[in-house]
Amino acid sequence: MTSTKRHYGTRASDGALEIEIEASEAVREVDGKTVKARVYNGELPGPTFVVGETERVRIVFTNRMSEPTNLHLHGMHMAPEVDDPHRVAAPGETLVYEFVIPAGAAGTYWYHPHVHGEVARQLGEGLAGAFVVVGPDDLALPLAGAEEHILMLQDLSVAGDRTPMEMHDGREGELVLVHGNTTPAFEVCGGLLRVRLVNASSARFYDVVLDGAELVQIGLDASLLGAPVIVDHVLLPPGQRVDLLIRAATPGRLTLRHRPYDRGAFRMPWSRIKLPNQGVLATFDVTTGCEAAGVELPSLGPIERLDPTHAVATRILEYGGKGNALRMVLELVTRRRYGAGEGADGPVRFWLNGKEFEPRRIDAEAELDTLEIWEIRNPTPLDHPFHLHIYPFQVLDVDGKPPAFTAWQDVVTVPAKSTVRILVPFRDFTGVTMFHCHILEHEDNGMMAHLRVIDRSAPASEPATCASH
Ligand code: C2O
Ligand code: CU
Ligand code: CU
Repeated sequence: MTSTKRHYGTRASDGALEIEIEASEAVREVDGKTVKARVYNGELPGPTFVVGETERVRIVFTNRMSEPTNLHLHGMHMAPEVDDPHRVAAPGETLVYEFVIPAGAAGTYWYHPHVHGEVARQLGEGLAGAFVVVGPDDLALPLAGAEEHILMLQDLSVAGDRTPMEMHDGREGELVLVHGNTTPAFEVCGGLLRVRLVNASSARFYDVVLDGAELVQIGLDASLLGAPVIVDHVLLPPGQRVDLLIRAATPGRLTLRHRPYDRGAFRMPWSRIKLPNQGVLATFDVTTGCEAAGVELPSLGPIERLDPTHAVATRILEYGGKGNALRMVLELVTRRRYGAGEGADGPVRFWLNGKEFEPRRIDAEAELDTLEIWEIRNPTPLDHPFHLHIYPFQVLDVDGKPPAFTAWQDVVTVPAKSTVRILVPFRDFTGVTMFHCHILEHEDNGMMAHLRVIDRSAPASEPATCASH
């Protein structure tokens, strides 16, 4: 099995890098099962695009499906009016997303649909692809010489509509795919092996360990770390990406697997999600036949560290929800199942700060060029991965404990009964964007809110300052 194919787009006459993406319906044979899937450019997962920092990128996206969809570039710092989930492509329609990759943005991103109410289903049927930004560290040795694999973790569901319990826990599809395959086996040369993991599953967390060598983490979400860190595992909630190095110095087998992780769902009565939730993700057989490269680790460029004393405000966000237990049991007995867009009348609803998502309501307003502390409280019995669009953040602490390293993240796990504080700088762009739980059933069922970033110093006639309500 070969390494992930990469696509670099084509240079348009105006200098922009043009990338064409088409979403369509397809039937795929996976692991002996026939799956009704949705695919980007005919591929499952969608193609991996690789672009450089400071490139101007133009994504020309066409919806070839029979239902509305759109494209969200998860994690990218760009104008909110370009990466706007409220823009939807009708069947046959084309949307253009044009933006400049910021300097220093080297990291692992991904794209997926973001039509409210349909995200879990469209993504769970296959619509996801990787988007990698390379920077100076990637283009220099030793990273430039590393053998690189980009692995999208998806769990497709062949079972069709969701049960009430799946609406509550978030669905874990029965078909775990590692870049479109079940447990791919790679033959690799000795040397430095680089593995980027993208959790493109709707609700499944992957607690990843490696047998046979040490795991070295060099990146998280939208950034490389300031230095390589040896880790004994990495926990990927939905939406998160990690960038790993493996020093494959001697021949033998390396096994990347995920081990049981309790995100709260196992404890729920009637939950479909049971232990053991674990398995081999991929194996790497290190051969001797080819010329082995060195295994020394890179020294990475420094990473800016945000200073919490510069924060102008602390904003409190609290996860919540309600489940009508009686209705859930009744609907389980009567085998009521939820299809597209039906969640709104379902027995489980989720919210942020006591409110369900409302497409026309602004929930938080922040000022351009300021730094805020966001305190995300999770009093519920389930973990909820928090995700903010457009503005990458740094984790300040988890239940008062600072993180092991600094990174620019856009997803952070907020464990059950815990509080996570993050530092959010509102740089470069004004506009309206979103934050939500990245368990997609929760997002679709209300656990999402709007943020508006305004520029008070701009002249009053600018639309960005029309904040009066
Ligand atoms: Cu990965 Cu709001 O999205
Ligand atoms: Cu996103
Ligand atoms: Cu959630």
